[in-house]
Amino acid sequence: MPWLYFDITSPLITFVPYTLNMYRTHTCGELRLADVGREVTLSGWVQRNRDLGGMTFVDLRDRYGITQLSFNLEARPEMTEQARKLGREFVLQVSGTVTERESKNLNMPTGEIEIRVTRMQVLNASETPPFTIEELSDGGDELRMKYRYLDLRRPNMQRQLMLRHQTAQAVREYLNSNAFLEIETPFLIRSTPEGARDFVVPSRMQAGQFYALPQSPQTFKQLLMVSGYDRYYQIVRCFRDEDLRSDRQPEFTQIDCEMAFVEREDVLATFEGLLRHIFKQVKGIELPEFLRLSYDEAMEKYGSDKPDLRFGMEIHNVTALTRNGAFPVFEQAETVQGICVPGAAEWSRKQLDTWTDWVKRPQIGAQGMVWLKVAEDGSLKSSVDKFYSESELKTWAEALSAQPNSLILLLSGVRHKVQKQLGALRLAIADELGMRSADSFCPLWVLDFPMFEFDEEQGRWFAMHHPFTSPYGADYEEVKKNPGAVRANAYDLVLNGSEIAGGSIRIHSREIQETVFALLGLSAEEAEKQFGFLLNAFRYGAPPHGGIAFGFDRLCSILAGLDSIRDVIAFPKNNAGRDLMIDAPAEIDAQQWKELNLKSTL
Ligand code: AMO
Repeated sequence: MPWLYFDITSPLITFVPYTLNMYRTHTCGELRLADVGREVTLSGWVQRNRDLGGMTFVDLRDRYGITQLSFNLEARPEMTEQARKLGREFVLQVSGTVTERESKNLNMPTGEIEIRVTRMQVLNASETPPFTIEELSDGGDELRMKYRYLDLRRPNMQRQLMLRHQTAQAVREYLNSNAFLEIETPFLIRSTPEGARDFVVPSRMQAGQFYALPQSPQTFKQLLMVSGYDRYYQIVRCFRDEDLRSDRQPEFTQIDCEMAFVEREDVLATFEGLLRHIFKQVKGIELPEFLRLSYDEAMEKYGSDKPDLRFGMEIHNVTALTRNGAFPVFEQAETVQGICVPGAAEWSRKQLDTWTDWVKRPQIGAQGMVWLKVAEDGSLKSSVDKFYSESELKTWAEALSAQPNSLILLLSGVRHKVQKQLGALRLAIADELGMRSADSFCPLWVLDFPMFEFDEEQGRWFAMHHPFTSPYGADYEEVKKNPGAVRANAYDLVLNGSEIAGGSIRIHSREIQETVFALLGLSAEEAEKQFGFLLNAFRYGAPPHGGIAFGFDRLCSILAGLDSIRDVIAFPKNNAGRDLMIDAPAEIDAQQWKELNLKSTL
């Protein structure tokens, strides 16, 4: 018999154990005034222990909440003495009577009652934990990672993992009801040159050969389309050996999906529906309209291919308005562009200098920054007053639709760099001004990506999405002739400045796939060796198909209002790719080196 009852009618997750068992009749989050007089048994961990002389109070915690236990010295001297000595995180089982509290705590769901304990059993003792198990822990990142099993006891971590669970349920619910089949694909596959670096696994039985862990199930899901499973999904672990950031882990989870006999619009509609369903189920929120921007528009207006649309501050090009022959920096620049910060005309010299230094940091790479203040009364003041007349400056303010009490910040230089620099500045200022509320959600599709990017260093073309993406409205002659101009039939789903999903309509013609491989520098032999299975499959009736994969961890972190995906992963790696709790990666012993036919470099 299942011992958990999942209340699917509630948008908030509620688990209620409903079988009576020997350890507990109720959870620590469950009892209310209406239960006064009941005889109950609870089990959980000691949150804290207060000795007030005649009375001792213990807060007992489990994943459902906290209930106060009371011990009366006079009535039960021996047990009260024992209760006084209970340390934090001791595991207890208590039985007693639900009683109305004298001093109520209305901030807690169980704050109107307590359990007058008549029987207590210490199920296990605990050493004092290295940090407090509370909403806000006093443990640093490293310590919390090392003792992750304690960190996971904290109520916020428990809420986050429950939210992740509920999100996964909502995903399955939606996809199952739309005829998608959940099919597993292998983890031990072969290494391929495209994309990020692979994690590889040496084969014991085939000396000198290696498996690779999948960066995504991309080719397998396409093969499933060839096999006729026309709607597939999988909530699947992916592995990428790349530099880590707050939104990247070496192993992460995708909601991986593929559909056959579809065009771009079918895929967009289906997965807009998925995101809407998730938000409705998990947060009770109806998402606003999904906007659409082309890649070029996104770069021009927001300096990013994953723009955060929760606030304005769009980028404007004022190059023509700055050309009066007087200010050499702007004269020599390919472009002059800027953003307008509302309500910032009062910024001090010091603040402006700080932001100027910020854009000049190597990570951003601007040469300098020009500012123009539009005061409350409309008067103008700028850092380039001596080069421009008031009426010239006025044209800038108009171009950026600057309202009274705003500040215009301009950067100049090479177009694509200036766009990115302003994109980063826009986000940093919005952070500073609290314009990126975790409670508002602005989804959008970014479309019409370039199909290929030319890498100057390596002197070759790379697929911007992946090599299986089909060109948009171009045949393979055009792909061959002018790869830089070809657009991909690819799409990214962006939410609040984070790329939460990406996908494309795929190539299903052997000729076009071969052309793309050739353009990416794979010889016919190499292509056959690496991707022969896919090219061969395309000989046997591959249907038109396309799909998408959501970054499940990113989606959960946004739903939870958190910046880092680590906080929605039970056992994540740190920024150096280490698991500090199990201390991995670790050396292997000499016997394993031998069995795996590896030569030790030590
Ligand atoms: P892509 O590489 O864009 O596409 O990945 C899909 C989504 O996965 C998330 N993501 C990550 N999340 C956490 N840590 C990482 N290291 C990481 N890398 C990616 C992002 C991203 O949008 N096979 C294609 C999908 C397709 O074409 O259907 C793919 O993997 O949210």
